[in-house]
Amino acid sequence: MLSVEDNEMLTRVGPRTPMGELFRRFWLPALVTSELPDRDGPPVRIRLLGEDLVAFRDSSGRVGIIGARCPHRLAPLFFGRNEEGGLRCAYHGWKFDVGGTCLDMPNEPPERQFKQRITQTAYPTREQGGVIWVYMGPSAVMPDKIPQFEWVQAPEGHQFVAKWLQRTNWCQGMEGEIDTSHISFLHSMKEVYNPEALVAQSPSVLEKAALDGAPRLTLLETPYGFSYGSRRRYEDRYYWRVTRWLFPMYSLIPGTAHGGAGRCWVPVDDEHTFTFHYQCRDDRPFNDAEIAQFSEGGGFPPRMERTKYVLRDGGIIDTWVPTANLENDYLIDRQMQRDVNFTGIWGVNEQDRSLQEGMGPIVDRTKEHLGTADIAVLSARRLLLNMAKKLMQGDEPTLPQDAAAYNLRPLEVLDPEDDFRSILEKYDATLGAAAF
Ligand code: FES
Ligand SMILES: [Fe+2]
Repeated sequence: MLSVEDNEMLTRVGPRTPMGELFRRFWLPALVTSELPDRDGPPVRIRLLGEDLVAFRDSSGRVGIIGARCPHRLAPLFFGRNEEGGLRCAYHGWKFDVGGTCLDMPNEPPERQFKQRITQTAYPTREQGGVIWVYMGPSAVMPDKIPQFEWVQAPEGHQFVAKWLQRTNWCQGMEGEIDTSHISFLHSMKEVYNPEALVAQSPSVLEKAALDGAPRLTLLETPYGFSYGSRRRYEDRYYWRVTRWLFPMYSLIPGTAHGGAGRCWVPVDDEHTFTFHYQCRDDRPFNDAEIAQFSEGGGFPPRMERTKYVLRDGGIIDTWVPTANLENDYLIDRQMQRDVNFTGIWGVNEQDRSLQEGMGPIVDRTKEHLGTADIAVLSARRLLLNMAKKLMQGDEPTLPQDAAAYNLRPLEVLDPEDDFRSILEKYDATLGAAAF
């Protein structure tokens, strides 16, 4: 459990909050590229870390992420004209470029030079790995590079990314990801704990082969966060599965062929989150059939639709919203719960969100009773709170500057080595290549 103060610090992400300031030290995924497909195309409303913003792609292809409201009389720039290198407010025609410079102010006499004195909030952006990234922190400590995940560096088409809205605080989603013991229940088929049924659902041949009901779990803190390993006996070797957690909210999960997959939780505000899913393969681009299959739901992303969404405080964003949600009880089917799976809810993300969103927007962590199965959750909280507290004292984190630290894979290997630290040293050096 956490103290009231620590729960507040962990979950509040608005401007000038400790956790909000920590997130602002990292490049963050803001949009997927497909949200802004065209130059001079329609702008997109987003909110990040409690700030309302509008994203647009200008005439030269650059992406701007700027304040959502015009500095003249605070009209929404979303209704503006995206034309000739900037976004022009529909009210009185003030126009801003991707850097926030006011390019035109047609309702003021030019001799007043008022235009030169007005700038719009604008954040630096980058585009790589099918994602538009944003940096919202102080320019003096802006990292040169975005995190160099394998899926980010992969050639175009070799990665698959998706984004959708989760209606909870960011930490609730992130904690669900590293809460390994729920998989045997929430995501299982009919029986409460049936390793054979679980393994039958897994795409991994190795996992099928390495059925050992009592894996040994080890967590090792690292400069990027932690690695969490499970070791199972397999003939004369061990079958290792290694999950990564990377600051401030990324996962890399083994079990998907060719490079693994993961998710991250980008705070929209205290009570809403953009979940990003990413996966990549190193052998070839994903083909159309695979992309179509991902889009059908069942795994990540969930079934969802692109829509305008009204946030709890009345703010508006444009995003993908899952079809199964709090209003329709995640389409729970009690017959299916009796006969088919543990929850009666279809889809892995739907299952996760039913409980995470059902906890309420910000769960009261002072009332929890955590056990040994919750070690990864406890570690992530402690590491984040420590980093945020240090930053409050002026101690800047160094990890954001180390983009290469993110060039990791989750691991799934057969190896006679029984020591987790040795496994990490061995495979991290080679990025997990040729693991088998
Ligand atoms: S409110 Fe935007 S130009 Fe007047
Ligand atoms: Fe889950």
